[in-house]
Amino acid sequence: MYSIIGANGYLGSYVQKIILEETDEDLLCVDLNIEEDTERVKWYRCDITDPDAVDELLHVLEGYEDLKIVYLAAYHNPDLVEKNREFAWKVNVISLRYFIEHCPFAKDIYYVSTDSVYGESVDRYHFKEGDPLHPVNFYGENKVAAEGIMLENGRHVVRFPFLISPSLAKKPHFYDQIVQSLREGKPFEMYADSYRSSLSFENVARLLIALIEHGNTEPIVNVCGDQDLSKYDVGKLIASREGLDPELIVPITMDKKMAGFETKRATSTLMDNALLKKILDLDFVDIFEKPRYKE
Ligand SMILES: NC(=O)c1ccc[n+]([C@@H]2O[C@H](COP(=O)([O-])OP(=O)(O)OC[C@H]3O[C@@H](n4cnc5c(N)ncnc54)[C@H](OP(=O)(O)O)[C@@H]3O)[C@@H](O)[C@H]2O)c1
Repeated sequence: MYSIIGANGYLGSYVQKIILEETDEDLLCVDLNIEEDTERVKWYRCDITDPDAVDELLHVLEGYEDLKIVYLAAYHNPDLVEKNREFAWKVNVISLRYFIEHCPFAKDIYYVSTDSVYGESVDRYHFKEGDPLHPVNFYGENKVAAEGIMLENGRHVVRFPFLISPSLAKKPHFYDQIVQSLREGKPFEMYADSYRSSLSFENVARLLIALIEHGNTEPIVNVCGDQDLSKYDVGKLIASREGLDPELIVPITMDKKMAGFETKRATSTLMDNALLKKILDLDFVDIFEKPRYKE
């Protein structure tokens, strides 16, 4: 049995899809906004900042054997986190602690963290799991604190890069905005000097469920792609996979601030995925193509 906490967002929608496609397990999806139940998927409304509601949820979860939890609920827009620091800490840290400390019965709990915990990659350095953490904003600090709670409780942390795919949730993703702009023949500006080990939501969900099903014992794993990609590179790839004009993707540099990018971000953060590849015996992890396993 799987449960996804924060199941109705971008990542949760893909994690649901992969669990249904690649395992025969049922799912309890928990979120503020819920959907209709289906044969294998049940929905449960819970605000994870409300301890009484969480107690009721925990009572339901305790009834399942071999429970595997993927914890995604978060307040994570760096600009909003900076503006609403107290609320962000309550959602991202205090509520997580309450849930984790009251859930000793779950077989596995995976917390999704981010490359933002590492800070700036100098000279294209690829951060490894044991490297010191130097987040450059309060969102990154929230994630470092959340990771600490997981590790203190003997639970798992996975660090994800910049993620991009068509949205399966009821809200468009950045990917969809790019596609819409190109379909309308409008240029779309993207940073050409800011690199990430980016992955699609589908691939990251696939690799996360593969790790859980494999019985991973590593406390922290970077789950990311093999390529160092700028957002401009990613935009070009999206244009070509959607059959749209890549020339409409316009390179800009980080010194040009875009709307929605008020708070400081690292220019580049690259991650090393050697541990992930060793655990799963992977040969190559592309941003969009299915991860390739060794023969
Ligand atoms: N997207 C990325 O590129 C990326 C990269 C690295 C790590 N991550 C991490 O992955 C996780 C999921 O990200 P995402 O992109 O899927 O975000 P998302 O679309 O916002 O999904 C989070 C889900 O949690 C729900 N939620 C928020 N507060 C809640 C609460 N108090 N109680 C119950 N549910 C609540 C949200 O509902 P509402 O929409 O109603 O708020 C949303 O459905 C986050 O921890 C994020 O930090 C994301």
